[in-house]
Amino acid sequence: MNAPVERQRSTRHPKILNALLPEAILQGAQALRQGGIVAFPTETVYGLGADATDPKAVCRLFEVKKRPAFDPLIVHAPTAERAFELWEEVPDAARRLAKYFWPGPLTIVLPKRSAVPDVVTAGLPTVAVRVPRHPVALSLLEAFGRPIAAPSANLFGHTSPTTADAVEEDLADGLDWILDAGPTTVGLESTVLRLDGDEALLLRPGGIPIEELEPHVRVRRVTRAQDGPKESPGMLESHYAPWTPMTRLGGSLADVRQELDALWRHFEKRKKPWPRLGFLAFDQKEEIPYFEATEVLSRTGDLYEASHNLFAAIRRLDKHCLDLIVAEGVPERGLGLAIADRLEKASGGRQGLGVLAEVR
Ligand code: TXA
Ligand code: MG
Repeated sequence: MNAPVERQRSTRHPKILNALLPEAILQGAQALRQGGIVAFPTETVYGLGADATDPKAVCRLFEVKKRPAFDPLIVHAPTAERAFELWEEVPDAARRLAKYFWPGPLTIVLPKRSAVPDVVTAGLPTVAVRVPRHPVALSLLEAFGRPIAAPSANLFGHTSPTTADAVEEDLADGLDWILDAGPTTVGLESTVLRLDGDEALLLRPGGIPIEELEPHVRVRRVTRAQDGPKESPGMLESHYAPWTPMTRLGGSLADVRQELDALWRHFEKRKKPWPRLGFLAFDQKEEIPYFEATEVLSRTGDLYEASHNLFAAIRRLDKHCLDLIVAEGVPERGLGLAIADRLEKASGGRQGLGVLAEVR
């Protein structure tokens, strides 16, 4: 096995393998069989995989990611039939959704079979399952032959990774291999639904917009204040966050410009240095001079392009040693609902420019 591994090892980092070479998939599957941890691309974000049937491997995964034990994992399967084996029963609604959306960025939560270890589901009686669409994820699942438990391959609470390099930055020490197939396409995590009879509870907006689900199932949104943490333990107020503090804008760009003008004068008057600001713009067309670094998610206002770029743009801004990242709002329709959710959590609830008084 040694020679082929040498052939596909990356010059960037010894644990990054070129996933497009078949030996990389075999190497990944072998590491999983030995209780190891392998990061792999899915169409949404990179996942941090362990054998879902091996409680010890799953415990190690929690440790590597520094994830609290109360936050359950998504189990990945290569086909709908294999996915169905993880649930106690498969209701009609689940079959319908699987038929339309799998393989793809939809995760379905239902009561689990006892064979699914409790550590995977954080002791919950339900298990979250999905069939990913990425050819590398599917090849790895086929080669391994068992389900793979995989959270996003970032340190707990940090921005999700859409490239192998982003995984390496967060987690290289604790894992065996990173299978590199370039940037992911969707860029946002899967939509998570819990099925309850004929109704679906939206636990996390994601890669499949609600508008596309609604013709197939009645979708109820979770109000976080009421039932968020109870329904989905991962729905914390701060998540997906850069190391740099971030805040979200509500008003129009013209209002923001006015507010920045006023703040600039305020700082000048008090001889306070102007903070280093980054701007995460949705579809900004004009430059705003107060920002030291700007990332535009989609110049044409395309929500698919914006989702694809979101996490990489946040990670790039995070490298500028800024005092604050200011995120423009996005239209909350289609994928915009998931983008807005990530921005809200990455900002840890901060809103508006008032927080400028706190920086420095
Ligand atoms: O696109 C994705 O879903 C990626 C790729 C790797 O598949 N995975 C991912 O996993 O985003 P993670 O662990 O970062 O997020 C899983 C979410 C968490 O919010 C968790 O609380 C929720 O799914 N979840 C998992 N099992 C659950 C369950 N049994 N009941 C309710 N929520 C659950
Ligand atoms: Mg995550």
